[in-house]
Amino acid sequence: MTFGCQMNEHDSERLAGMLEEMGYEPSGDPQDADVVVLNTCTVRETAETRVYGRLGELKRLKAGRPGMVIGVCGCMPQREGAANEVRRRAPHVDLVFGTHNLDEFPTLLREVIEERRPVVAVSGEEGEIVEGLPRRPGDDLKAWVTITHGCDNYCSYCIVPYVRGRERSRRPEAVVGEVESLVAAGCREVTLLGQNVNSYGRDFDEAAGGAGFARLLRRVNDIDGLWRVRYMTSHPRDFGLEVIEAIASCGKVCEHVHLPVQSGSDAILELMNRGYTAARYRDVVARVRQAVPGVAVTTDIIVGFPGETEADFRQTLDLVSDVRFDAAFTFVYSPRAGTPAAAFPEQVAEEVKKERIARLIALQNGITREENQKELGRSVEVLVEGASPKNPGKAEGRTRTNKLVLFAGSQGDRGKLVNVRVVRAGTWALHGEVIP
Ligand code: SAH
Ligand code: SF4
Ligand code: F3S
Repeated sequence: MTFGCQMNEHDSERLAGMLEEMGYEPSGDPQDADVVVLNTCTVRETAETRVYGRLGELKRLKAGRPGMVIGVCGCMPQREGAANEVRRRAPHVDLVFGTHNLDEFPTLLREVIEERRPVVAVSGEEGEIVEGLPRRPGDDLKAWVTITHGCDNYCSYCIVPYVRGRERSRRPEAVVGEVESLVAAGCREVTLLGQNVNSYGRDFDEAAGGAGFARLLRRVNDIDGLWRVRYMTSHPRDFGLEVIEAIASCGKVCEHVHLPVQSGSDAILELMNRGYTAARYRDVVARVRQAVPGVAVTTDIIVGFPGETEADFRQTLDLVSDVRFDAAFTFVYSPRAGTPAAAFPEQVAEEVKKERIARLIALQNGITREENQKELGRSVEVLVEGASPKNPGKAEGRTRTNKLVLFAGSQGDRGKLVNVRVVRAGTWALHGEVIP
């Protein structure tokens, strides 16, 4: 069970691959699983609450099936004190391991099973990048490919650098090699993953500066048989001209940039240690839009950061109104112990945070709907993922701009690239007809 971001989705594929090598098979239902692993997130308090909720359900299951092994891994145990907390609050958990111990999973699992005792393995230090771990792709058509591990940015609210370690880039040959083998196995779309893709390569090639990622994009774009290249997450401070040129000129690189702004107030951005101003952010978006016609821009926004006044928050609303994002992920600030912002005075009251996020969501939902309506009558290219799980008789897929499109079709359409004329547009999806 995976919680959290694409990094965890991807790590879970590796865990599943290791289990398959050990002779296990995937089970759709924890009810009849011998091993259940929760790959956890700790970016916000709510992420941990969800994990404990699941652990509560599993406790009941395990009471009826004592042989079941329950593991907890990922970012949560890596947070200081959290591994012990799991042992205390959920003594039915047999195995706890951190993000830096991912490759030890088979050994740790054997230890639990053979020695019938709980095992905890949480290293404080990230090791060298381990290449060549098996993976069981969740999806053969689309795949995540890590380009950098960890993060060095230390945004003042964020726990990721503490639980994922220093930023380490994979060698370009390793990335290209992995994409080539995915494509040989039928993959058509890759998403290059890093907490800040724009700093790719800095650790081994300082001279490349911001150009390391641009170069990598060009190399991946040249891989035959691949149709689409995505990447996330971009950082406004490091989003340079070389990258804009690369996305504009590489045909497979999709017209979508996920560019978290976090706040529209310079005072708050400064306290967040983001390294850019709202004006710089607007400028980056303007340049990208000029270079890449039709590009979709999405973002992440935090409300209620310590010290955020009503005036600061209005600047966020103004930025949202002006930039007109295609979509935004909005979060209420959650203090994470050990991060600088958690100790800032002037924490914002919960009611104020709730009221602000409701205003922000209402504004953004209106904009998302209006932006989607601009697609009416247009023809969009859709990579079909198969039957829509929630809409009988429909197939679904995504545009190059990452919008969900539904149309009459079936699972048999999976993997096709079709052109769809948009006839209806809501906030969450576009509806259309395939153009023969
Ligand atoms: N590396 C990416 C995103 C990492 S976490 C980036 O730099 O944008 C995903 C999002 O979670 C962040 O963009 C931020 O908006 C949100 N987030 C991180 N820490 C948070 C916290 N303590 N409280 C609320 N939201 C947080
Ligand atoms: Fe967290 Fe900032 Fe790193 Fe993103 S760039 S993971 S928000 S520290
Ligand atoms: Fe991702 Fe959550 Fe870890 S956002 S990096 S899974 S703390």
